[in-house]
Amino acid sequence: MSEHIVFHDYDVQRKDRNANYGHPSFVLWFTGLSGSGKSTIANQVEKALFESGKKCYSLDGDNIRTGLNHGLGFTKTDRKENLRRIAEVAKLFVDAGNICIAAFVSPLIEDRKQVEEIIGAFDFYEVFVDTPLEECEKRDVKGLYKKARAGEIKNFTGISAPYEAPKNPALHITTQNKNITESVQEVLDFLATKL
Ligand code: PPS
Repeated sequence: MSEHIVFHDYDVQRKDRNANYGHPSFVLWFTGLSGSGKSTIANQVEKALFESGKKCYSLDGDNIRTGLNHGLGFTKTDRKENLRRIAEVAKLFVDAGNICIAAFVSPLIEDRKQVEEIIGAFDFYEVFVDTPLEECEKRDVKGLYKKARAGEIKNFTGISAPYEAPKNPALHITTQNKNITESVQEVLDFLATKL
């Protein structure tokens, strides 16, 4: 902690918010390649939670990078800092009583470990959106793979930068040959065991 900083305890605490809102708070962290379906699934999961009255909020790679993390790129160092800040934000949302849904490529095991340490293992559920590179490249929704193959984007995950799959995620979903509703349902079934 910085010098001359004294942590101030507020009377309304996380446990009070959890009791008030009627559900626990935690982070559901989606990791996977660009185009794997993270944001699409996260969006639908948030919608379902919201419609059932849960306090929830989504954090998304592209969105955070236009604001809080504007200026950070995709080097190893910048991704680490990107994810560190996001983990701190996610932790605040948990303290605020939310189910925080985070969708980030977060390609390296050591960086996801750092995220888990910041948030706290008890409040962190890692969801591996396992879509093979070939499928993501075939989808190429944003046209980024084409650019990465042409050398127009540097350090592109799966092409010119590594993706390390989680070894023991809380939930492992595959999206190939499945529709979005089926993938979303798998996440909701998992969440039902935590809520
Ligand atoms: S990371 O690795 O967790 O810091 O990345 P993240 O903040 O999730 O940002 C990923 C989105 O940025 C776009 N993009 C790239 N992704 C990977 N590698 C490179 N070099 C890159 N450049 C831009 C891309 O749209 C990612 O969004 P998704 O939704 O994953 O496709």
